[in-house]
Amino acid sequence: MQKSGTVSWKCPSNIALVKYWGKFGRQYPKNPSISFTLNASHTITEVQYNYDENRSTPALSFLFEGFSNQKFAKKIEQFLNGIVDIFPLVKNLELNINSRNSFPHSSGIASSASSMAALAMCLVSIEKEIKGLESIDLNKASLIARLGSGSACRSVFPKIAVWGENKIIKGSSNDYAIPYYKNIHPIFLSFRDDILIVSHKEKSVSSRAGHALMNDNPYANTRFLQANNHLDVLVNAMKDGDLDTFGMIVEKEALTLHALMMASEPPYILLEPNTINIIRQVQKFRKNTMVPVYFTLDAGPNIHLLYPEEFSPIVNELKADLKKYCADGKIIDDGVGEGPQKL
Ligand code: PMV
Repeated sequence: MQKSGTVSWKCPSNIALVKYWGKFGRQYPKNPSISFTLNASHTITEVQYNYDENRSTPALSFLFEGFSNQKFAKKIEQFLNGIVDIFPLVKNLELNINSRNSFPHSSGIASSASSMAALAMCLVSIEKEIKGLESIDLNKASLIARLGSGSACRSVFPKIAVWGENKIIKGSSNDYAIPYYKNIHPIFLSFRDDILIVSHKEKSVSSRAGHALMNDNPYANTRFLQANNHLDVLVNAMKDGDLDTFGMIVEKEALTLHALMMASEPPYILLEPNTINIIRQVQKFRKNTMVPVYFTLDAGPNIHLLYPEEFSPIVNELKADLKKYCADGKIIDDGVGEGPQKL
């Protein structure tokens, strides 16, 4: 049998509240994580596919923002070859992929979560078309996304997602993320997350290398216990709408992630002076105004400002003040989003 078609998905990035840092085996997390799925920061991926049951290895052409990109193409080729055992259909596919991000490539935003989630959604859509399935399998999409980039597995679901087996959340799994917004206070479902771009530069140490350094980090086991405990406290705070506890845990998680990097062998620092300047100013602003605005960080120097939507007007005043710490004054206004969208 032969079949051709085109599928296209828009997939958002996500920001972890309790961070995944350290992995084992086939991209399994050493501790559970929970994230907000974003909205404005997204990848759009279009895949034209040709299915041929006589084909035995996947074939690929890849364009990023309209141009061929050898580095990304190689990564995707390795990824496709690496999922043949769990997604055998891929070996019968020739894929012509065209992908673009809503944010500039060098904005300092990790694009692997949105791009791998978008590609995974395209792959399960292709499976649905070829096999004539009734619906796409989101668990499978999340699992495939995970094999591309761990954190990508959480981008498959709207609003809030949890990844990693734990005692607190029923149905949680190391294999894929699950949606987790039903038992959450509504204030968090329209939360804002504005991204302050402190630096556009590529990170000096990749996430892949950072995860690997957790294997010999002397604080690793304590950290994994702490992450489980933070998840417990955080989901309860989010159920009750307890902003103080939410903020306390989220900021502790951000600083712990970077503390782990500074305590690795060899140690390294991804924070920039302006990251610290912003953190201090956010904490001072919160103390002076009582506005519940908090920061978190990814594995890089950029700050995510988290706050309830109703405080946008006053937080805009803070953002105007913080612009001076941002590269080219760049701030991406984002917030909790509805997850992947088929185009
Ligand atoms: O998905 P990876 O392998 O790029 O790791 C990302 C890890 C953090 O972004 C730092 C934390 C997280 O849980 O997203």
